[in-house]
Amino acid sequence: MRSAFVKRATRKFMPGERPEDALAAGKTIAATDRGLIYTKLGEAITSADEAVAVRDHYLGFFDQIRAMQLPAQVSVKPTQLGLDLSQPECERHLMSLAAKAESTGSALWLDMEDSGYVDRTLDLYVALLGKYPSTGVAMQAYLRRTPTDLERLLPLRPTVRLVKGAYDEPKTVAFEHKSDTDRAYFELASKLLDAAANGSCTPIFGTHDLPLISRIASHAAKAGIANDKYQIHMLYGIRDAAQRQLARDGHTVKTLISYGSAWYRWYMRRLAERPANVLFLVRSLLA
Ligand code: FDA
Repeated sequence: MRSAFVKRATRKFMPGERPEDALAAGKTIAATDRGLIYTKLGEAITSADEAVAVRDHYLGFFDQIRAMQLPAQVSVKPTQLGLDLSQPECERHLMSLAAKAESTGSALWLDMEDSGYVDRTLDLYVALLGKYPSTGVAMQAYLRRTPTDLERLLPLRPTVRLVKGAYDEPKTVAFEHKSDTDRAYFELASKLLDAAANGSCTPIFGTHDLPLISRIASHAAKAGIANDKYQIHMLYGIRDAAQRQLARDGHTVKTLISYGSAWYRWYMRRLAERPANVLFLVRSLLA
């Protein structure tokens, strides 16, 4: 019964809880010229053994990606690898994952969690970037501090996935109004594109906001920045037709697929992003 409930409740945003479900869905998506990012759901684990288990899971998952020849990367949350327990231990786990990513022709991403983790996540990112230059980090446009953080990172030639931000933050820390976040997103995107123009950054736009994507794409075109200098990442199940169209139009598009049983907190963030999703949920459960 639990399995039937989970499938109905989450099917909009994830192909299934099992890694095999995610890999099979990735194969279909990759056939439409899109790349893939995988993430096993889970955050804020509470024992060192759990962090080791997550690391080992991903080490095996990189092998599965390679065996299936999928154009896929992996994105992790630092707290899923024990950041709350020990930063040095978390860094060691992340280093093993970045090394494995590099040796299997993939890449590792750090998600950005709530604002209490930004300093530590950026410190981890800088350490990883020094050894594994393909590693990327998410940065959140709704945070007032992000322009300063970006200035600090740009000299290091980072790979940045700019997102709007998904956590409930106090207004002293993050913009209260969506219009301010959208404005900040475009300003940060322009900064990233300027850096991409001289080869000092790889910008990734992690958003489903199509008007914003088209403003960013025209800004890039006007500045003579080719499509292959930046990428667009979206979540599995959201704006799928637009993802396919953007790929057909010559953009580099990647779809982030989540899997795993610890979906509750992540799922609540997806519902909060769009009230219509709550109606979708109720309809699926009644169907
Ligand atoms: P916005 O909320 O303005 O939505 C634009 C349009 O997209 C909506 O009008 C709707 O049509 C569609 N849409 C958006 N969300 C939807 C949903 N849940 N269901 C259905 N339709 C939806 N956040 C974070 O804090 N840390 C992170 O590391 C990441 N990582 C990340 C990776 C990738 C690849 C993506 C795409 C997003 C993230 N996020 C994230 C989440 C991000 O911060 C943000 O919450 C969501 O992307 C929703 O914001 P949009 O940019 O899509 O814009």
